Amino acid sequence: MENLYKIPEHVAVIMDGNGRWARRRGLPRVYGHREGAKRVEELIEVSRDIGIKWLSVFAFSTENWGRPKEEVDAIMSLLVEYINKKVPYLIENNIRLRFMGRIEQLPDMIKRSVEEGEKATQHCDGMNFVVALNYSGKAEIIDAVNKALKSGITELSEEDFRRFLYIPEMPDPDLLIRTSGEERISNFMLWQTAYTEFYFTETLWPDFDRDEFLRALYEYQSRERRFGKVLSI
Ligand code: IPE
Ligand code: IPE
Ligand code: MG
Repeated sequence: MENLYKIPEHVAVIMDGNGRWARRRGLPRVYGHREGAKRVEELIEVSRDIGIKWLSVFAFSTENWGRPKEEVDAIMSLLVEYINKKVPYLIENNIRLRFMGRIEQLPDMIKRSVEEGEKATQHCDGMNFVVALNYSGKAEIIDAVNKALKSGITELSEEDFRRFLYIPEMPDPDLLIRTSGEERISNFMLWQTAYTEFYFTETLWPDFDRDEFLRALYEYQSRERRFGKVLSI
């Protein structure tokens, strides 16, 4: 841990490859989602231990509704189970649980868990754990524009616009990790990733353990972020 000198403030993760992980073992896809949920716990623990203030994970995209009904239902049940089970741990560790996405469109069962989870942890200020649920980056931008228009605003600066995003105070991700060998953004945080460092790995999400996460953080520490400027010659 002594080499961890440049700690990102916000790490975002596209947890991909659950289905392939299960298929390779001859198991139904839902087993991959179940195993993947366990890796999220490790991700939170490592983040807490090294002082990452914001951890966000892409759990379900607006496009994921297009999957077979039994898979969607299984993911939704798993999410409810996970939220309900994790809230006491989050409170104990001073971690605030937040959600981003079109939450109002979710089934009542899950909406209730989301609201309860947010409310129960709203006083926690040690770290933020953000779950993107029924999330789409394009939808977030459109929702922000519509909120701004409804408020009567006719012209926006970048900073004004940020106030209308799902979580206005969330800093942009410093590091975005995507597992399973896919190298695309798949509609995740389009506005917020303008200067994010991307880390791709072939590892499937259910195999992404503590060491894999530390490897990604070490790699991040070796990157030189220039933000369009000249830093060293
Ligand atoms: C990511 O794993 C989890 C969700 C999108 C909910 P996938 O289910 O996309 O797994 P692959 O990509 O099919 O292997
Ligand atoms: C992105 O993974 C969404 C989540 C991880 C929730 P997908 O598996 O849905 O993305 P594509 O279809 O490969 O782009
Ligand atoms: Mg996938």
